[in-house]
Amino acid sequence: MKVLTLDDFSLEGKTVFLRVDMNCPIDMNTMDISGTKRIEESIETIKALNQTKLVITSHQGRVGNGDYTGMDKHVSILENLLDRKIKYVEDVIGESAQKEIKNLQNGEILLLDNLRLCAEENYEFSPEDAAQTIMVKRLAPLFDLCVLDSFPSAHRSHPSIVGFPHVLPACAGRIVEREVRNLDEIMTVAKAPHVIVLGGSKVPDRLEAIKMLIKNGRADHILLTGLIGNVFMRAQARIKYPLGIKREDEVVAKAHALIGEYPDVFTTPVDVAIDKDGQRMEMDVRDIKTGDKIYDLGPKTVEHYSKIISSAGTVFISGPAGFFEKENFSYGTRRLLDAIANSMATTIVSGGHLTTALKEQGLEEKINHISTAGGALVLYLTGAKLPMIKSLESAATKYRSVK
Ligand code: 3PG
Repeated sequence: MKVLTLDDFSLEGKTVFLRVDMNCPIDMNTMDISGTKRIEESIETIKALNQTKLVITSHQGRVGNGDYTGMDKHVSILENLLDRKIKYVEDVIGESAQKEIKNLQNGEILLLDNLRLCAEENYEFSPEDAAQTIMVKRLAPLFDLCVLDSFPSAHRSHPSIVGFPHVLPACAGRIVEREVRNLDEIMTVAKAPHVIVLGGSKVPDRLEAIKMLIKNGRADHILLTGLIGNVFMRAQARIKYPLGIKREDEVVAKAHALIGEYPDVFTTPVDVAIDKDGQRMEMDVRDIKTGDKIYDLGPKTVEHYSKIISSAGTVFISGPAGFFEKENFSYGTRRLLDAIANSMATTIVSGGHLTTALKEQGLEEKINHISTAGGALVLYLTGAKLPMIKSLESAATKYRSVK
């Protein structure tokens, strides 16, 4: 990786734009943050910038989704973790935000509100066009340095990720530096067969990545779980009723096309567990009926998947295998993590839920690389160059010396 790091800059007194990824799971009943892992991860870089005028930025959720909220909840968690006061402004690019940034003193920290409140941050741009957005034109002149540390959103070409590094000296924060170094090392030793265990809910993103993974020789077997598993079972006509998800016809058609093109790659569950009045009920996939809530894998599927995992050269797992937060539906996720941790393969575990589960099971030491990134990591493994990394590389050639 030819990118600059915090060690390449003299930081004292600089006004720094820090892009982190504090996009956290939100409990839909209380609207509180239910997992603080990503906030905890951002602490190392924040501490390394303690002699600067530091502005922290992040997105939270997606417009239209239940987890789309302001950053007011994040600020108190950050304050507790850092044991110090942090300024917060309910603004991103307006006069209040600009005034707070200009008034910052050395050693002070300001958190801006959810970047996606600014419409531009919800669209993908080329670096040149991102540099022309109102967000970058208004804010960039207020900063000396851009630090990118939001590895989980490294696959997004949003203004905060590709626009600022186009016009400001830019470097990687500690998370991005470490993730890319570790992953580069791991990918040079990774060997076949490559087994991908894929769950999670961002189905359209996953479908895009699957094709690239197969084409680039990074996926010999794809074991499907979670919502994407249901989509493939629907495409195989093994689930006969609509799943009621966004863009369902489109994603099912894509899954159908993938199965047709690569018939030997995909494995889908043979049994599942459904929620019956709050209780776990095991069921053969053939018996699923309209309205059944599929919340986990069944034991036969777990056994079959575990066998494939045990003969893998490399295993990558992303996304929980079911409704992991509910104890009686965490079985599939936990057993698959056991199988992965105890395999001889090179292992990569991705996503907040899985990293939490690994910790609870005491398996962290047995995994080669653990990352809270989801979609960004899947795309990285396809061999694609992520927009954030491209931007950092290009900034490194433009701004060699700012010391
Ligand atoms: C993630 O959780 O994958 C990142 O924060 C990116 O979020 P997004 O998929 O909404 O862009």
